[in-house]
Amino acid sequence: MANVLTKNDDYQHWRDNKLANVFTQLEDCIVEIKNPFELKNSEKNKITSLCRQGNFAIFHISKQNDYADAIVSINTQFGLVDFDQHLYVQDKGLAHITQIGNKNQSDFIPYTDKAIGWHTDGYYNSTEQRIRAFSLFCVSPASEGGSNEWIDPQMIYLLLRENNPDVAKALTHPKTMTIPEHRVNNIVRRAKSTGPIFFIDESSNALYVRYTQRKKNIEFLDSIEIKQAVEHLDDLLNKKTDYHFQHLMQAGQGLLCNNVLHKRNSFIDDKDNPRLLLRGRYFNRIE
Ligand SMILES: [Fe+2]
Repeated sequence: MANVLTKNDDYQHWRDNKLANVFTQLEDCIVEIKNPFELKNSEKNKITSLCRQGNFAIFHISKQNDYADAIVSINTQFGLVDFDQHLYVQDKGLAHITQIGNKNQSDFIPYTDKAIGWHTDGYYNSTEQRIRAFSLFCVSPASEGGSNEWIDPQMIYLLLRENNPDVAKALTHPKTMTIPEHRVNNIVRRAKSTGPIFFIDESSNALYVRYTQRKKNIEFLDSIEIKQAVEHLDDLLNKKTDYHFQHLMQAGQGLLCNNVLHKRNSFIDDKDNPRLLLRGRYFNRIE
């Protein structure tokens, strides 16, 4: 895939292959897992091939005594072992995505009931800590709202390039997007991160997307070309193409993916049974 961005022949070959194998119906992408601690070959093959073609799969498991154990076991069977040890990871590499009263943590939108715009995970991370895959598992949904939307990031590149090759090319500029350093009490918690939106991730040789639609604390390269290209990208993300998915995850359902572009809609909690999702972020990719 190394020359997809730069060589037209390679791009066309990759594009034709992608379009010939694409799924557009969510029900074709759902896999029932009988035993999370020992996947059947058929379950494993189906999830792997969905991820190879469209970069995500939805799975469902029955009620478990310990969901974190079950999810870690599933993820391990797909080679997802090197997890991102960030601030709020607590349970065997998984973060509990739920509303938190704690003031510091609720400064981060994931731990509130608010909507989150389109992004890939870890867009602010360094190259060494690039998030190549994540899992998101629903222990309990909200009483209202909280659905997720996502699209294969490679498909976004394809659609953008088909529509306007100059726009797709502009967003491969190595200084397209900068996230300034993050300081708490004058201590640098996260270094400044600068890079393209579309690029080839060297270690997996796969086309990778690093993006957030959030505009606060994000700096784009000061050029009209890049600013217009980002607007095109946002317009495309905000459309509903055949390749966009929307789903309200039910208890027992999970998403396994190669860091798809995704967003979350706002929700209202049942106070006695708040929305709880378990999320794992990994440096590995599902292949
Ligand atoms: Fe996310």
